[in-house]
Order: sequence, then structure tokens, then C-alpha cells
Amino acid sequence: MDSREEAKWAAARGALEYVQDGMHIGLGTGSTACKFVELLAELAKEKNWKFVCVPTSEVTAKQARDLGLKLDGSYPDFGKLDIVVDGADEIDPHGNLTKGGGGALLREKYVALNSGKMIVVVDEAKHVEHLGDTFKLPVEIVAFAWTSTMQRIAPYVKSMELRKRDGKIFVTDQGNYIVDCELYAASDPVQLHEQLKALTGVVETGIFPHIANVCITGLADGGSRKQEF
Ligand code: 5RP
Repeated sequence: MDSREEAKWAAARGALEYVQDGMHIGLGTGSTACKFVELLAELAKEKNWKFVCVPTSEVTAKQARDLGLKLDGSYPDFGKLDIVVDGADEIDPHGNLTKGGGGALLREKYVALNSGKMIVVVDEAKHVEHLGDTFKLPVEIVAFAWTSTMQRIAPYVKSMELRKRDGKIFVTDQGNYIVDCELYAASDPVQLHEQLKALTGVVETGIFPHIANVCITGLADGGSRKQEF
């Protein structure tokens, strides 16, 4: 296993510390969050612990189901969750996140805001001084009249492109599109999030301002580091 994979497993293992029998747990999306889902399913079997889980994407829902984890039957009208464990594309020193690399940012935000604690699992490469330093900001927009929504976003970002996969426009689980935006250096993430949210046609941004409570950074040697916000 390469050292980055090892670090992602270490972060996922670190998040198990927050899990208790009977919890309602939000399951994130991405290559780090899916490792946590695997470990959670193992824990449930080993200890005969019961969880009720809320997935942040169809991909994670399938993974959880296949591993025998119970999903909340009232989804998507789920109630308050104890914790959510999710990855991030970037995290700044204040715990602000960029998310949405996997296109699940809207559900991820719903689940995070409905959780008592958001635990972020990352490897060292995700730590940045300013959001936007290493990753373009995903912004979810309605498919209707998407070109004019992009024109509204344009003054706030350096450049942007509509997300495509295999030559086709990428469509989110909610049927929306995603615009990946290159940010101006050292943009204020909270202000930018608010400005973009105010634009007609913007559904949600991938900035998670002051939502994360804990960040577990997995290390290549199999250990992990914890920060609280
Ligand atoms: C998906 C996300 C993911 O959490 C983010 O892309 C991190 O993924 P990975 O752990 O694979 O790097 O926001 O929408």
C-alpha cells in the first residue's frame, strides 16, 4: 500500500474513537470516508453494535448497504445525527473546508449541519493556508439556464469551468451541475461563500465555513493527529 493510502486508513481508524453503540452516524463520500465506512461495518460485526446511518451520496449508500450497515429508513428526511465522518479536499488552519471533489457537496452539507459533531478525515496533503490554494472550489448550480448562472459567478472568481466526466456534463445526485472555480489568492472563504450563495441559480458552495468540529489527519506511518475547532 502506498503511503497516502496508509495515511487515509490511519485517519479513518482515528475517527472510530468517536463511535459508540446505538449512534446515528452520517457517512461521508470519497476515498477516505469510504475507508471509515468499511471500518464501521467491521466494528458493528465484531462488537454486535447497532448503528443507524445516513449516507451523503448514492455511492456511499450502496457501499453501506453492501456491508450490512443499516440506513435510516426516513432518508432523506432524517433527524439529528450524533456524528458525521467525512473527507475534505482542503482544510485551512481555522477548520474551514473545501468539499465537493466527488460531487456530493450538497448532501454532505445537509448531513454535516444535522450532526452533533463533524469529524473530518484527511491526509497531510489536504492542509492549506488558504482555501483555493490547491483545489478549485466546486459550486453546485441548477441545470436550468446554467450559462447565465455562470455569468453571475464570474465576477467573484478568477476562472471557472463546468464539470464534465467522459465528455458529458457531470450531473449531481440532485440533478444539478457543478462549476469548478479557481479562486483569487487568499480569498476570504466565509465572505465568498455568502456572496456566491446570494446568486440566483447557485444551490450550494463547497465551502464549509466553521462547520467541522474535529480534524483527524492520518500519517504515512499509520498514526494520526487530532485538531479540535
Ligand atoms: C466528495 C468530497 C470528498 O470528501 C472529498 O473529495 C475528499 O475525498 P478523498 O477522501 O477521496 O480525497 O467532498 O464530494
